[in-house]
Amino acid sequence: MEESRISNKTLELPIFKFDVLQSTQTKARDLYDKEGLDLFVVWAVEQAAGRGRRERSWHSPKGGLYFSLFSKKLGNLPSPQLISLAAGVAIKDVMEKLYDIACELKWPNDILYQGKKLCGILSEVASCGQEIDHAIVGIGINANTDLSGLPEGISREAIAVKNILNHEVDLEVLLATACTEVLDRISRLATQEGRSKTIADYKRHCLTLNSQVIVYLDKGKVSGRAFDITDEGALMVATPKETLTLTTGDVIHLRRR
Ligand code: BTN
Repeated sequence: MEESRISNKTLELPIFKFDVLQSTQTKARDLYDKEGLDLFVVWAVEQAAGRGRRERSWHSPKGGLYFSLFSKKLGNLPSPQLISLAAGVAIKDVMEKLYDIACELKWPNDILYQGKKLCGILSEVASCGQEIDHAIVGIGINANTDLSGLPEGISREAIAVKNILNHEVDLEVLLATACTEVLDRISRLATQEGRSKTIADYKRHCLTLNSQVIVYLDKGKVSGRAFDITDEGALMVATPKETLTLTTGDVIHLRRR
């Protein structure tokens, strides 16, 4: 393990870097149990058992950026879902700021470029009653990833930053910028004004809104038109029979209206 730090005027953040981990999410939890730090990052060059949303695995060969941001100082949020949405907006902003890449968001928190997946986010939140005790925001970015090394079904639907730019990018710069932006966005969730701004920014770049969608749920699926995102980050879908407010699910976009 190598330890370094991101520090600027507002931020002092220890980074624990590993060559290989099973999952940065699991390691972040272990380190919290052992070290009791309030704010830190775990970065792995490769993951042997990277985890995705809804119990899926996240293939993590060398070249991608895989990290988990652990934060304890989050205050009282109306919904933990907002953390994922805020992280999604932050990564979209980073892509624009660093590389002039214009991304879109697929609800709840995929970052897409021209319909293909560039980044995935897995937020794990521990709550004490209504209060959030801590969050571990796991982010996987196809940065310098050789997509041909991924299983075919995944590589077909993925894109890497290096393929868009035609050159590799500096992972340390990407990590530092991503952490700064994600933390900034998350800290702004503490006020009603910050939450409204985040939801408004999210909606502006959300490809799912105003699309005809199929949403796969834990049990079954629903089809309809996604027409809004609530203040808590839930997706509102109008089906021929009813209006649904969904807090989780896998979305397929059919067409935009
Ligand atoms: C998804 O799209 O399903 C979410 C993928 C999240 C992957 C990241 S990589 C860093 C962190 N560690 C993990 O095991 N998963 C997240």
